Amino acid sequence: MVQPVAAYGSDVRPVSFGAPVTLPPWTGQVGVGRVEVTQAEPQTAQAIVSTLTAHGVDAVAVTAPSGTAQAVILTEGLSAADPAARHWAALAHARTARTPGARILLLQSTAPQAHAAISGLPGLSRTLQKEWPDTSVATWSFAAPDAPTRAHHILTALGTTLGDAIITADGHASQTHVGASLAPPVTNAATAPAIWLVTGGARGVTATCAIELARRTGGTFLLAGRSALSRWPQGIARTADLKTLRASLAHNAVASGQKVKPADIDRAARAALAGQEIEATLSALAAAGAAAHYVQLDLSDTAALAPAIDSIQGQHGAITGLVHGAGVLADKLAMEKTEAEVRKVFGPKVDGLLALLGAINISQLTHIGLFSSASALFGNTGQADYAMANECLNQLARQLSAELPHARVKSYNWGPWDGGMVDAGLAAHFAQQGIALIDQADGARIFADQLLDGDRAIVELLVGDEWSGE
Ligand SMILES: NC(=O)c1ccc[n+]([C@@H]2O[C@H](COP(=O)([O-])OP(=O)(O)OC[C@H]3O[C@@H](n4cnc5c(N)ncnc54)[C@H](OP(=O)(O)O)[C@@H]3O)[C@@H](O)[C@H]2O)c1
Repeated sequence: MVQPVAAYGSDVRPVSFGAPVTLPPWTGQVGVGRVEVTQAEPQTAQAIVSTLTAHGVDAVAVTAPSGTAQAVILTEGLSAADPAARHWAALAHARTARTPGARILLLQSTAPQAHAAISGLPGLSRTLQKEWPDTSVATWSFAAPDAPTRAHHILTALGTTLGDAIITADGHASQTHVGASLAPPVTNAATAPAIWLVTGGARGVTATCAIELARRTGGTFLLAGRSALSRWPQGIARTADLKTLRASLAHNAVASGQKVKPADIDRAARAALAGQEIEATLSALAAAGAAAHYVQLDLSDTAALAPAIDSIQGQHGAITGLVHGAGVLADKLAMEKTEAEVRKVFGPKVDGLLALLGAINISQLTHIGLFSSASALFGNTGQADYAMANECLNQLARQLSAELPHARVKSYNWGPWDGGMVDAGLAAHFAQQGIALIDQADGARIFADQLLDGDRAIVELLVGDEWSGE
């Protein structure tokens, strides 16, 4: 008898683009006022200014917004700068352009392009829509690769109130659409890859997901993270609580007559807890029937990744499954954020992934699972950089899925989990907004089900509640 599959505890929904709608032709009657266009991508900027001027709009190319224009078009998302620099420049220029009632339009491309050129600016516009209610901010993503066509599409869209959208090569607009809840698929682990690289997989919620994957597929798991596999300090009782461990370490230091600074105690305690967590993940993977290895690797150190991957593949064979869970937060309002904070967030999540994709023979990958966030889809106050970086993952997943027709590629826009980077303070914040936390076992099941057996055509998923933010 076939057993019915239990429904998921959290909602799992496909994210796609809605039906394209026709934009009304430019009538010339819309009072758009003065339009400034930044020259980060000069060809598109010039084409926009020429097209708008030819149609009677007061448009001018600028190196930076003046802060007085009614509409500002930012071409930073189309520039050839590295991803963090490009996204930081868009954020910085949006700040300069901000004035009550202003309209800020962020441009980027969805045409097939080099992986490093992919942008996540919808993460910025969605966040700014929450942080700056007095300003209209939208991202227009162009499928047309050439500047004159993009300029023509801008002219048309400018006469509308179009928000975040993809503008197709023939000038239609399509907006993000979250579909109906998915039922769990019938599971069939026979297609599992042999060698998984799981970034961030030794700790946090990615570890929970890796353990579930190992239960289904066995094989070899290579877990990468920054932390050292530190030993537990001698003579100290095991605990998972930072405060308790700090107190024990301090007590031992005093008892043995050592003078140790509180900062050193804190560092030692965190290192011991990280080592303990890594050990526990390795043991759980082994218990699940997989061969498990830990590789100490900082994904932000992109120059070190290619030699590290060469060495890993030399020892274990070609990587056939990639799970990318490494990520950090640097939350702060967009008006206060610094370039260093944007780089900190982009380092492991975007730069690290791009470097890995460059170092691995991606044609051998049969499964790719990327840990994105619902903040990319909905924006989130204080998380402009994190939302942009996660939206880069969503866009990259779509392109990888198109490039690798034999592979299953999933980008999970996770809502908040009950664990990982969601500490007690964040959990209370989400509870206040009525957003349920994703249960660890449920999240891990969703992850493995969808990566191994989900519909290949569904690349982007929302897991958890929809939210509107503050
Ligand atoms: N938890 C949630 O509610 C939630 C929601 C949405 C999305 N996500 C995403 O899910 C992923 C895991 O989150 P989490 O909650 O488990 O966070 P976490 O507990 O803070 O774990 C982050 C993981 O990333 C690794 N990492 C961070 N920086 C790294 C670097 N430079 N190089 C290599 N590894 C690095 C960490 O290991 P080391 O510290 O040892 O380097 C750790 O394994 C993240 O990408 C996050 O954005 C989480």
